[in-house]
Amino acid sequence: MTGSVSKGEATAITWRGLSGGLRAGLYAAGMPNQTRTLLPGTTAMSDAAFVRESTRPTPVPFVPEVCLSMADDAIALWETTEEARGEIGLPPPFWAFAWAGGVAVARYVLDHPELVEGRTVLDVAAGSGLVGIAAALRGAKSVRAAEIDAYAVAAIGINAQANGVRVDAAVEDLLDGDGGPAEVVLAGDVFYERAMAGRFLPFLERAQARGALVVVGDPGRAYLPRERFTALAAYEVPVVADLEDTALKATTVWQLTAAVRG
Ligand SMILES: C[S@@+](CC[C@H](N)C(=O)[O-])C[C@H]1O[C@@H](n2cnc3c(N)ncnc32)[C@H](O)[C@@H]1O
Repeated sequence: MTGSVSKGEATAITWRGLSGGLRAGLYAAGMPNQTRTLLPGTTAMSDAAFVRESTRPTPVPFVPEVCLSMADDAIALWETTEEARGEIGLPPPFWAFAWAGGVAVARYVLDHPELVEGRTVLDVAAGSGLVGIAAALRGAKSVRAAEIDAYAVAAIGINAQANGVRVDAAVEDLLDGDGGPAEVVLAGDVFYERAMAGRFLPFLERAQARGALVVVGDPGRAYLPRERFTALAAYEVPVVADLEDTALKATTVWQLTAAVRG
């Protein structure tokens, strides 16, 4: 099934009453989680131990082939994360949930294995690793997952292992490059914040220009440049109502179309 999302449906990710853009903006503006000054009274715990303690393995709604370590309460986990790090202004724990865009790409990859089978795959801004795990389950030659959040990288390791696949995850920001040498570049739910979207489109265009297949999933976020994409599929994706203010989100799987050169 194909479809598109009208402009009126565009939404931002909201969290704790603030727009995801504002929170992500704070993060981008210089409050990264690399600064790990523990406050008195806090104790260090490995990222993997923290992920395990904060989540429980749960089949992903709409993608039951994949089981992820997910949290029940987003706000409580965010506060716990800041306590554990001894910092405020940390990014939300995106890694503890399956976002609509990622769910849609994972569903599409699982139903269309020819997209990834025998190919090298990059899951950019991987969060929980859902998209990369789906690619690995469908026979990708290798899967690399890139994230800027160390907790996400820990979660991806745990989730890949739980699903019996290999995903090579690292804390890295690849957006100034072209995603090489991956033959397929996948991204779930990355157009929710203006500055991030402003870097993502050129990155995806460079990946495509060197010959990669570029596929993203998006539930009508505010900064998706949809005129640059062709719809491959549209789904009604179940989402966490506390995060999205709705139980279902119309979500499209998009393929980047070739840029018209003037
Ligand atoms: C809404 S989540 C989507 C996660 C996952 N793709 C999904 O659909 O479930 C967006 C993710 O992008 C990550 N992110 C933001 N900027 C990034 C960058 N420059 N490089 C890699 N990851 C980034 C965040 O840490 C966050 O985990």
